Amino acid sequence: MDYLCSVFLLPAGAPVEVEEALIAELWMAGTLGVEYDGAVEGRVRLRAYFPYREGTVAMMPAAENGVESLGEEVVAERDWLAVYREGAQPFAVGRTFFVDPRDMPGEPPVAVPAGRTLLRVPARAAFGIGSHESTALAIELMEELDLRGARVLDVGAGTGILAFAALSRGAMLAVGLDADLAAPFHARDNGNRNRLPIRLFAGRLSALAVARPPQQFELAVVNVVPEQILPELPALVALLAPAGGAIWSGILAERGDEALAAAGALGLAEAARRRSGEWVAFRLTRAGGAAAGAGGS
Ligand SMILES: C[S@@+](CC[C@H](N)C(=O)[O-])C[C@H]1O[C@@H](n2cnc3c(N)ncnc32)[C@H](O)[C@@H]1O
Repeated sequence: MDYLCSVFLLPAGAPVEVEEALIAELWMAGTLGVEYDGAVEGRVRLRAYFPYREGTVAMMPAAENGVESLGEEVVAERDWLAVYREGAQPFAVGRTFFVDPRDMPGEPPVAVPAGRTLLRVPARAAFGIGSHESTALAIELMEELDLRGARVLDVGAGTGILAFAALSRGAMLAVGLDADLAAPFHARDNGNRNRLPIRLFAGRLSALAVARPPQQFELAVVNVVPEQILPELPALVALLAPAGGAIWSGILAERGDEALAAAGALGLAEAARRRSGEWVAFRLTRAGGAAAGAGGS
């Protein structure tokens, strides 16, 4: 599908209500998405995308409140992830990993810095190539643990990057699950690419609760926003081994206390935290217990 892209400039110093009113109108007009496109002389520029077929015209909102319409252009359908992969460069994550997000035939071999482990995780539909703060925070907390021989559960595995990190650090087993049906397919491909096999399934934690024989994990890594995982925390805690613990990332710092309170009500206490930008991540252990590798690596 091609897109009709309509470009708007907000007035200089416009209050947030002007921007919100414009975005609301664009949604009412059927936009598929609105993106920020920098600023021009202090004026915020927005691009709104609409489905486009020859002869059709989007019902664009009239520019009001001093908003200026800069016109429209037809944008051809592109595989934006492929565009990203072409331009991407490998990058360091945490203290010990080096992620290659490319996936190009004949790509030059990667020069991996000493002391780092290469993870090849091409950017695809599934979230998580390690470039997001929440992924990096989870990896940093994992790097503090001795995972040798541990059974690790990756909840919301996406590309599988956290499970790969755990296996690279000596975990005996990694099970990954994701509510997004496509994610395990990407994670499986990535597992083959890295020769790090994860056991994967599409679904939710409740499926593991009824597994026979019962499953237990020394560590659960969860990079999922509270809105999406809070109702399932009891099921998560039930899957932890007696001395097991969890790393919970994907939490906006302003919701950190709320997340800790929810974990605390289930008997998990903060053992460590990391923060980057607006994101925070916690390592949680059973109150009065010890998590996998509590002695450090
Ligand atoms: C922020 S991404 C994390 C991906 C990857 N683990 C990482 O750290 O980069 C969150 C993932 O969790 C999945 N997800 C959201 N809610 C979930 C739930 N309740 N159970 C399982 N997966 C969930 C999403 O589909 C998404 O792939």
